Amino acid sequence: MDNKIDEIQGTLKKYGQEHLIKQYEKLNEEKRKLFLEQLESVDFELIQNLYNTTNKEKKNNKDEITPIEYLDKYKLYDEYKRYENIGIKAIKEGKLAVVTMAGGQGTRLGHNGPKGTYDIGLDSHKSLFELLSDYIKEQEKKYNVIIPWFIMTSRENNKDTINFFEKRKYFGHQKDKNIFFFVQGELPMIDTEGKILIGEDGLIKVAADGHGGIYESLVKRGMTQKMRQMGIEWVFIGGVDNCLVKMVDPVLMGVAIDKEVTVACKSVVKANPHENVGVFCKKNGRPNVIEYSEITEEMAEATDEDGELLYGESHILCNLFSVEAIERMGANPLPYHIAHKKAKYIDKDGNLIVPDSPNAYKFEAFLFDAFGEVDEMAILRVKREEEFAPVKNSDEAGVDCPKTARELYKRFHNLD
Ligand code: UTP
Repeated sequence: MDNKIDEIQGTLKKYGQEHLIKQYEKLNEEKRKLFLEQLESVDFELIQNLYNTTNKEKKNNKDEITPIEYLDKYKLYDEYKRYENIGIKAIKEGKLAVVTMAGGQGTRLGHNGPKGTYDIGLDSHKSLFELLSDYIKEQEKKYNVIIPWFIMTSRENNKDTINFFEKRKYFGHQKDKNIFFFVQGELPMIDTEGKILIGEDGLIKVAADGHGGIYESLVKRGMTQKMRQMGIEWVFIGGVDNCLVKMVDPVLMGVAIDKEVTVACKSVVKANPHENVGVFCKKNGRPNVIEYSEITEEMAEATDEDGELLYGESHILCNLFSVEAIERMGANPLPYHIAHKKAKYIDKDGNLIVPDSPNAYKFEAFLFDAFGEVDEMAILRVKREEEFAPVKNSDEAGVDCPKTARELYKRFHNLD
């Protein structure tokens, strides 16, 4: 083992991370092994490059942003039934699987535990996971088919998530038969000097690599292979925190199949031109999502001849992919976005530091950055009140919080 640390010393020196050798020396045998494994998996060149971008303004003003076409689910008229029938056929043939991304930290909500275990305060006191499970079971019954459920966790919350499901007998799903768990990728966190941080456990402090890590993880963890073996052709990928997410939508599937696209996304129209949401667009001629901060006021307010916003289709993390599209997206690394966060760490003298302001950088890939991999995608505008009730913040925030989600859920399900 000590040979290995000798081998790696040169690399650590080259990248200014020698403090990691000192940390290694302080650890016991068991932890040393884990620490070494971590060291061997770190891409130091990548971390250095990411650090170098932390103080650079990285807007590329040369990008050409143009509107993207979309369909309104409720203005399809005769086509609605046709798309629906195509989708129903594929669902009944067992070609659909659903993926829930549950690897996030849920920092804004502040719940102690994986976000999926959160009880939004319904009379039933069901957790977000159980609400999603109920929906899947209802759809399985409707279409008389098994819809495999894949759940992405992070190293941080994997154990708690699985224990939660285990205690509840997987809500009737069968582990490794129609419910699967897989862990997403992670990257070290660094301080403002670019040094890799040490966590409370004495090991390298890592954080999940963002929801954009989904493609690579699905491929690397053998999930796409499993899907292929099961005859799955289409995969709906959604977040854990939208309690109205409609993962099984024959119209969306029918549109994708009929239009021969490999990605089909749902959107809801912006609540107002200046709502702080990412919107679908084309960037240099390819599908993309652009953050509200990246478009001008003029673009945000621009409308077409029908008075519809040109950049009004919000991305709500409700996207359908062919298995092949996932594999393609998983093959190419996505850019990382930098978040300046508060992170507890152990300093060089072994003291635990609990910062009260952001002290560290975390790197995250965004799922929609892969959209440019495909030439065309379909976008289907759906109704906000039917499909979008996110739980992002605590109730104090007053928006996208348990209270608003609960009200939307109750209204949709006529629970009042
Ligand atoms: P958000 O971007 O809202 O992040 O995730 P979050 O972790 O839930 O909450 P904050 O930002 O810390 O407050 C949207 C969806 O993507 C998943 C989340 O679990 C959620 O379902 N996600 C996010 C991952 O699975 N992994 C990640 O690394 C990040």
